[in-house]
Amino acid sequence: RKRIGILTSGGDCAGLNAAIRAVVYRAVGTYGWEVIGIRQATHGLMSHPPQVTDLGIEKVDALLTAGGTVLGTTNKGNPFAFPMPDGTVCDRTQDIIDGYYQLHLDAVIGIGGDGSMAILRKLAQHGGWNLVGIPKTIDNDVGITEHSIGFDTAVNTATEALDRLHFTAASHSRVMILEVMGRDAGHIAISAGIAGGADVILIPEIPYTVANICRKLEERQSQGKNYSLVIVSEAVRTEAGEVVSITNRLGQCRLGGIGDYLADRICDCSGAETRVTVLGHVQRGGTPSPLDRLVAAAFGVAAVDLIAEEKYDHMVTWQNRQVVSVPIAAAIAHYQAVNPEGTLVKTARGLGIYLGD
Ligand code: F6P
Repeated sequence: RKRIGILTSGGDCAGLNAAIRAVVYRAVGTYGWEVIGIRQATHGLMSHPPQVTDLGIEKVDALLTAGGTVLGTTNKGNPFAFPMPDGTVCDRTQDIIDGYYQLHLDAVIGIGGDGSMAILRKLAQHGGWNLVGIPKTIDNDVGITEHSIGFDTAVNTATEALDRLHFTAASHSRVMILEVMGRDAGHIAISAGIAGGADVILIPEIPYTVANICRKLEERQSQGKNYSLVIVSEAVRTEAGEVVSITNRLGQCRLGGIGDYLADRICDCSGAETRVTVLGHVQRGGTPSPLDRLVAAAFGVAAVDLIAEEKYDHMVTWQNRQVVSVPIAAAIAHYQAVNPEGTLVKTARGLGIYLGD
């Protein structure tokens, strides 16, 4: 009878609770194991005593549709250089490893993006733990897997935002700019941009010029279309390649980004009345889409099965309609940006959307 831990690490997203539920259903329901929920990612392990909760079927029954993560999470505090209250940093590796052993775990399932996966793998190697990974991130940039939990819901949310902006843009003859998340990748922007009928899609993988954006807006005007929708990924830079994201003095608070820069430049060159919507964390919260529930369920079951086979240091992935496990090292070695030669780029260009040059 195994005793396994589960934690969620990095930014939250829709579908994490559905994955936790699937892990418990499979581990407790099928195998009769015990599942220990570790709170706040590795922070739960570095606390003494470790911050955990027993997860039985009754505790997870209602979690399928719940947003966020009942275990809590954090993307703050790299354990290898952990920020201490006195302003210094400290390596907390040993505290985390001690926490794992105090819990007498046979294995841990880590649900995280590429950064979390790299940290958890390093800890597992230091501590001699058995680790299995489940990919999640709205950014969809984890290597090898076609789906990561949370991406589809974020795309649905961004698409719905474009659908709504469409009507107000048309009513006021405006250019509406929607800034979406994605960290360093443009997956949300290109997917939602095509699905939501954007006229301009800007992603960090493809350079653009403001002059060509304005040419596209003028072309629409000459066709009698008095409004336009622009979707831009947060990591897009200025034409000169500068990072735009403005934060407060301590870097804790985001004050403005690429959407504002573009609005200013588009007003200058086209004279169009322009408004910016920054979608922000709305993309992470909320009820998971059916696809995210499905991916979370399949990943949760497969991750527990990997532990049953004692196939550790592997991550579950979605490839060609199947769940396939791959070494975690292979997944984190391969960052997945938007392919500038890929189907979505060709599709957007084929539709006449301006996607850069
Ligand atoms: O990685 C997920 C993500 O939502 C990114 O898209 C975004 O850049 C970042 O996290 C935001 O992080 P925070 O919640 O710390 O503002």
